[in-house]
Amino acid sequence: MSTSDLNLWHPFTQEGVDPVPLVVRGGKGVFLETQDGRQILDAISSWWVNLHGHSHPAIAQAVAEQAAKLEHVLFAGFSHEPAEELASRLGKVIPPPLRHVFFSDDGSTAVEVALKLALQYWKNCGRPKKSRIVALENAYHGDTVGAMSVSDDSPFTAAFDSLRIPVLRTHSASCSHCPVGLTRATCHIECLNKLEKLLTEQGEEIAVVIVEPLLQGAGGMIVHPEEFLAGVRRLTVAHDVLLIADEVLTGFGRTGRMFACERAAVVPDLMCVAKGLTGGFLPLAATFATDRIHDAFVGGDRMRAFFHGHSYTANPIACAAANASLQIFEREPVFDRIAAIEKVHRERLPAFAAHPGVSDVRHIGTVAAIELNVPDAGYLSSLRPRLYQYFLSRGVLLRPLGNVVYILPPYVITPDQVNFVYDVIRDALAWIEKST
Ligand SMILES: Cc1ncc(COP(=O)(O)O)c(C=O)c1O
Repeated sequence: MSTSDLNLWHPFTQEGVDPVPLVVRGGKGVFLETQDGRQILDAISSWWVNLHGHSHPAIAQAVAEQAAKLEHVLFAGFSHEPAEELASRLGKVIPPPLRHVFFSDDGSTAVEVALKLALQYWKNCGRPKKSRIVALENAYHGDTVGAMSVSDDSPFTAAFDSLRIPVLRTHSASCSHCPVGLTRATCHIECLNKLEKLLTEQGEEIAVVIVEPLLQGAGGMIVHPEEFLAGVRRLTVAHDVLLIADEVLTGFGRTGRMFACERAAVVPDLMCVAKGLTGGFLPLAATFATDRIHDAFVGGDRMRAFFHGHSYTANPIACAAANASLQIFEREPVFDRIAAIEKVHRERLPAFAAHPGVSDVRHIGTVAAIELNVPDAGYLSSLRPRLYQYFLSRGVLLRPLGNVVYILPPYVITPDQVNFVYDVIRDALAWIEKST
C-alpha cells in the first residue's frame, strides 16, 4: 500500500481490535479463495446473499451480456426489458395479491420503501392519524434511519437514538427466552397478547406492523412458531392495520419455501426482498404491494404520487442477474438441495442440544443456530471473536452473532460439506472447554 492509498473502512469492523480483513481473489461454489491461496468454505452465504454458489456461470454470463447491451438508464419515465422480465418472473413466485413491485437497492431501502408506502397509504386515504409503527423485540431491519428505527435497541443502534423515530414495540415469539415465561409445548402463543392490546387500544393511530416472518436474523436467528405469524396477520386484519413482511433474509428458499410467509399461509400487504434476489451477485431489492396499497397512489392529484426513488433503481445489470438466478430455480433441483441441507440440520442438531455448553438449538429450512451458554450472552460476547478466528483457522467462514453460532449456506453445499461444518463446530465446543 503506498502512502497515497486510502484506508479501506470496513463495515461492522473495529480497526485496532479486529484482525486485518482477508483479501479474497476468487469464489467458486461454496468456496472463497484468499490471496494467499487458502480455500474457505462460505457457510453463511456471504452475509446471507448467495444462493447458487459463488461465480455461478449462468449469472456471470447474464451480467456480462447485459452490461454490454445497456448498463443503466433512469427508471422514471423509462423502463427496460430486464426489469419487465423480472416483474414477470417474480409474478410467478410472489403470492398473487402482491401484484405491484417497487425496486430499490438493498434490504434497508426495501424496508424504507415499505414503511413510507404504508404511511402515505393512510394519508392518501384521508386518515393521516394512522401513522404509528409497531415492530418486534429482537428485530433487525437494516441500518438506514427508518430501518434502524424499527430494529430493536442493540449495539448497532446505541449511538443513534436521537435519529430513530419512536415505534411501538411488541413481543417476538422467542421460545427459548419466552417473553411471557411460558413453554412452547403447552403455550397458546400468549406472546401475541401484547400486540392485541396495542392494536385494541391504539389501532386508530397505528398504520402498520413490521415483522421478519418466522426467522429473526441478526437478532439471533430466532425461529418463531408459524402460529405466531398467522396470529399477527389475523390481528392486523381485524384492526385494519397493514402488515409488512420483511423477507430480506428469508426470501428465495431460505426457510424451505420460496417465502417464509407461505409456511404460515400468510399474505402481507407489503413484502420486502433483497439479499438473494440476484443470487448474491449485485445489490437489488424489491418491495411488493397489493392493489389496495397501489390504488391509493393513483389519481389526478400529484400529491398522491410516491416521491421516492434511487439513482440506480431497477439497474438493468442487477435485474439480469436476478432473472438468471430465478431461472436457476427452474433449471436446477434447488429445492432438493434445500431439503438435503435441512436433513443434515435435523440429524446433527440433537447432539448439540444435549451438550452442556449449549443452551438452545433451532432450525428452519436451510438455517440452523446453536446458542452457546456463556456468562456474557449477546452480540458483544467475548467468545465471539475467538470463535470466528477458530472457524477461519479450520477453513470455514462462520460469523457468530455473539454467542449464537449459525449455519446459513449457499444451496449448492453438499451434505458432506454441511456435516464438515458441524464437525468443526463440535470441535470448537471441545476447544472452548479446553481453553477455559
Ligand atoms: C431481515 C432483514 N431486513 C433488512 C436487512 C438489511 O439489508 P441490507 O443489509 O441489504 O441493507 C437485513 C440484513 O441483514 C435483514 O436481515
